[in-house]
Amino acid sequence: MSITIALTKGRLEKQTIALFEQLGIDCTEVREKGRKLILTSANTDIRFILVKAVDVLTYVEHGVADIGIVGKDVLLENGKDDYEMLDLQFGACDFCLASVASYEPTSPRRKVIATKYPNVAANYFREKGQDVEIIKIEGSVEIAPLLGLADAIVDIVETGETLRENGLVIFDKLAPISARLIVNRTALKKQTTPIFNLIDQLDAYLQQGGEAE
Ligand code: PRP
Repeated sequence: MSITIALTKGRLEKQTIALFEQLGIDCTEVREKGRKLILTSANTDIRFILVKAVDVLTYVEHGVADIGIVGKDVLLENGKDDYEMLDLQFGACDFCLASVASYEPTSPRRKVIATKYPNVAANYFREKGQDVEIIKIEGSVEIAPLLGLADAIVDIVETGETLRENGLVIFDKLAPISARLIVNRTALKKQTTPIFNLIDQLDAYLQQGGEAE
């Protein structure tokens, strides 16, 4: 029986296959995929599917994929933390509150917050006891406070370069983010040994200080 792994297309995909290759899992077909979206590993019973981050959750929830590799940001935003089995440690960044330097986070005025992560932002301000208006943005969130759409943003910050180049500063760090391995519960019961074998191998490799690249 093969294991199907849903990979988040893009940056995480490249780091995931680099990590899997360190364990001796052949990922040649993923490296040379062209436009193909279902790929096999030549030397293992692993099949990869390449999908967008949120769809990794959907495929794993429905049991079409046994395992998923997705950012913690997506798990937090969608309230799916309980699917998580392993922190893969790459793709490290932080959820941050950021704005122009003149932003006053403690002023009592009701603020407008732009974000790709409305649930994460809402939880953060709810915990602070602040009532805010949240505007959902799909990308390039950093321009929202510059153009007056919002007072501040909640977004992921990796190197900080996007903030710096757009004259924004960090006011608070909400949570650390990295790639996580998630598992479908039924698959775990049906394929306990191969799934735990893979998780144990990844865990042992990461524990000894191994990196994806
Ligand atoms: C993410 C994030 C920031 C940027 C942070 O955006 O939303 O904009 O990366 O990275 P940095 O701290 O290294 O500059 P992404 O590249 O996914 O593009 P998007 O804005 O279109 O969503």
